[in-house]
Amino acid sequence: MDIPEKKLIIAIDGHSSCGKSTVAKDLAKKIKYTYIDSGAMYRVVTLFAMRNNLISKDKVDENKLAHLINQVNISFQYNTEKQRHETYLNAELVEDEIRKMDVSNNVSLIAKIKFVREKMVAFQRELSKEGGVIMDGRDIGTVVFPNADLKIFMTADVEIRAIRRYKELKDKGENISLDEIRENVSKRDFIDENRDESPLRKASDAIVLNNSHLTPEEQLNWIVKRMNELK
Ligand code: CDP
Repeated sequence: MDIPEKKLIIAIDGHSSCGKSTVAKDLAKKIKYTYIDSGAMYRVVTLFAMRNNLISKDKVDENKLAHLINQVNISFQYNTEKQRHETYLNAELVEDEIRKMDVSNNVSLIAKIKFVREKMVAFQRELSKEGGVIMDGRDIGTVVFPNADLKIFMTADVEIRAIRRYKELKDKGENISLDEIRENVSKRDFIDENRDESPLRKASDAIVLNNSHLTPEEQLNWIVKRMNELK
């Protein structure tokens, strides 16, 4: 494919666990763009809140979090040895911890808080100043970059999404049932779609990609084709 000279912004939004990050990383590698995982940012704030005992019975102590949130510094590094993007909370590598089920169970509660979103969105825009970015999340095409050059809205059948996440977590050694994952994925979708602040929505100019029956290679080719159609 021809890589466009202009450094584009590509927004990939969609439902929980539907493979957004897989295709975003594959595309970033292919066209030498920067991949930014906005979900990892909400996961880091959630881990921080959990460690500070700010979440109990589905309730977040928002006052305390507002006081402490400036202690949260998020950064990303690419680990060439492990060939993966890694997330840091202050100087600590938290990539594995933020993907665990206890963080997934709380992240949508944190992600619906206005001041948390404002801080994360400012950071997402800061990181993307130079363009040449692929960012995945829930509000990238609607709120973070309403003028993104290409917007994709991804989804897949909930059962397929649950099975994919189940395999991913099992491979990492997490002891978890498929039922628990299905419930988590559906609950996060519900909270993300129904919150007041930047609810998960397809932007009016986003193209829908249902990848229920696509391989990673097929979904990558699908997006590359959309990019080639841009000009
Ligand atoms: O598990 P999955 O990879 O689908 O989720 P994620 O991208 O890591 O995002 C975790 C959670 O963060 C989502 O369920 C949303 O509640 C929240 N999120 C958000 O509100 N806005 C974003 N731009 C990205 C994630």
